[in-house]
Amino acid sequence: MACAGLAGWSWPLRDPVCCALLAAAGLLLGLYWLLSRPPRGLPPGPSPWPLVGNFGFALLPGPLRKRWLLSERAGQGGSRPLAPHLLLTGMAKVYGSVFCLFVGSRPMIVLSDFEAVREALVSQAEVFSDRPSIPIVAMLTKKKEKVHAEIEVVTGRDRAPSLTDKAHMPFTEATIMEVQRMTVVVPLSVPRMASATAVLRGYTIPKGSVIVPNLWSVHRDPNIWERPDDFQPTRFLDENGQLIKREMFIPFGIGKRVCMGEQLAKMELFLMFVNLMQNFTFLYPDNATKPAMEGRFGLTLAPYPFNIIALKR
Ligand code: HEM
Repeated sequence: MACAGLAGWSWPLRDPVCCALLAAAGLLLGLYWLLSRPPRGLPPGPSPWPLVGNFGFALLPGPLRKRWLLSERAGQGGSRPLAPHLLLTGMAKVYGSVFCLFVGSRPMIVLSDFEAVREALVSQAEVFSDRPSIPIVAMLTKKKEKVHAEIEVVTGRDRAPSLTDKAHMPFTEATIMEVQRMTVVVPLSVPRMASATAVLRGYTIPKGSVIVPNLWSVHRDPNIWERPDDFQPTRFLDENGQLIKREMFIPFGIGKRVCMGEQLAKMELFLMFVNLMQNFTFLYPDNATKPAMEGRFGLTLAPYPFNIIALKR
């Protein structure tokens, strides 16, 4: 039966029209490949596929892909995909602190250490200040005694905090900074775009490349921060307990396009945090699972759901 069905079928390559169409399609694909071939000197990275690039991270090296698809989390009782900021931080270990992925045929350059971020966003601000057109609370349970003590001395319990208290509460400020260092509200910053072809760390960055500064990896870099995974507000204090400015602390980005709302956000963070700590003591319920500190990735980082006790003081 099958043979009878195929009897009238002729191999398309014998048909001159089919041949011409196939040749034209091949020519067009070849031409597209030639024209969209990435320029020489690009930063290293996984090889892109034609048209799709590294879309969906499907073409990552095996071990990274495995972790991306399924990462076991101790104490979480389950598994879930690895968040992009962690995946990109892992990739920097394979490809170096400046590496390239392709979104379709557009290069996306990921900057994963402070020097690379500063070189691009400050030293070469003219080129890297475009934007592509694209559409805390767990920490409150730690170091709370010292924050409570500082509030006790500066504002007491009866008056609401004001911004003038800020200068007298270095430990509280350092605690807020440490929360921001570890939780990085915008872990991959807001993407930038190269307005001209530029050279960064010896690599060619073509005009139109998307630039992704990985603030998460800067804030967790063991070469900058001692024991980066430990919550330690004193890293922002000098030996006299006074606040020190650390250049590599960049939760609001850096350079010409730094966050416009930085000052407003800092005021809000201070007033809200002090208000909460003035009125409550935060505790984990006995035997409760603590939330994973790497956060749930959107453009911003949100905490995983967790239970907490807010005890009126
Ligand atoms: C904790 C709170 C916030 C954090 C961590 C944060 C972080 C950031 C970061 C990392 C960028 C990208 C900077 C760069 O490209 O180098 C940014 C951009 C921006 N942020 Fe924020 N932000 C916060 C709150 C706010 C608030 C409250 C506002 C407005 C009232 C705001 C308005 C903006 C605007 C307008 C930009 C774009 C600036 C530009 O393109 O020139 N942000 N923010």
